[in-house]
Amino acid sequence: MKTVKIGNIEIVPAMAVGCMRLISLDEKNAAEFVARAAENGLNFFDHADIYGRGECESLFSKACKAAGVKRESIYIQSKCGIVRGKMYDFSKEHILASVDGILSRLQTDYLDVLLLHRPDALMEPDEVGEAFDILYKSGKVRNFGVSNMKPMQIELLQSGLKQKIAVNQIQFSPVHSGAIRGGFEFNMLTDGAADRDGSILEYCRLKGITPQAWSPFQHGFIKGTYIDNPDYAELNATLKEIGSNYGISPSATVASWISRHPAGIQTVTGTTNLQRLLDIKKGLDVNLSREEWYKIYEAAGNILP
Ligand SMILES: NC(=O)c1ccc[n+]([C@@H]2O[C@H](COP(=O)([O-])OP(=O)(O)OC[C@H]3O[C@@H](n4cnc5c(N)ncnc54)[C@H](OP(=O)(O)O)[C@@H]3O)[C@@H](O)[C@H]2O)c1
Repeated sequence: MKTVKIGNIEIVPAMAVGCMRLISLDEKNAAEFVARAAENGLNFFDHADIYGRGECESLFSKACKAAGVKRESIYIQSKCGIVRGKMYDFSKEHILASVDGILSRLQTDYLDVLLLHRPDALMEPDEVGEAFDILYKSGKVRNFGVSNMKPMQIELLQSGLKQKIAVNQIQFSPVHSGAIRGGFEFNMLTDGAADRDGSILEYCRLKGITPQAWSPFQHGFIKGTYIDNPDYAELNATLKEIGSNYGISPSATVASWISRHPAGIQTVTGTTNLQRLLDIKKGLDVNLSREEWYKIYEAAGNILP
């Protein structure tokens, strides 16, 4: 299975198990899901304080307890900074209080990674720096990162931090490929040429930041899956054809496509179906050829000028 590095964690699977939809499971099934994922090497779990208004984190800790999953056998990442329906808040008080809430719901003393969920235009880098310092020195947070941020926002934030920003979690997939599309359509008048993210993948590569791909199987802003969706017939046919060369499913072929990019992107899946999760994981054993990678990119409706 392909792996990536995140901050001071040298090796984690190139696929994180996203827990935003965990509350669709009852406690027994959540325990089975978490335990079997970890047993199969998928031991990096992605949370946020807002998922299920905290219920996802609470269910996760109950599930781990019920299944006997040891804290040190897994990596837990969570996020804060969104005050739902109101604002984004990177104030020191908000960050510190949010982490205490996260740790108490997760029933743990520490997070392996804390991400700031969406950029706060009112952020004061030095103030965030004070919060991160307290969290790092107290051992409550071991690594820090961001989500949905442009390079200059990361630069600004980093200017106030002692700890290095290790992660940027962004929406990314063959059908949500702005992070590479803008580069291909350089200096053109096409829609894809619009610079919506400021060359974020190139920036992450230069800075040693691990990108994470959220909603890898959704089209639009979490509108539903494009897998087996007739609106994406050409993409599905291509994923099937290329996947069949390796004996993997279309979903696994997407994971393979994401992990083929040299930025070392970690796919963050959202399925709560164990079979599907283990099926997608097979994509991390496959290294697509350059030709296959480009074929999938084009089949998703992207252009190569
Ligand atoms: N940083 C951010 O702003 C942000 C935003 C959104 C999400 N996230 C993170 O990203 C994770 C993944 O997001 P997501 O849940 O939207 O991702 P996803 O993996 O793209 O979508 C998963 C959903 O698609 C369904 N699905 C149906 N057919 C599928 C197929 N063939 N292959 C894969 N999935 C299929 C799954 O159903 P079944 O469960 O029945 O398989 C599940 O409901 C979240 O859990 C969260 O951790 C982060």
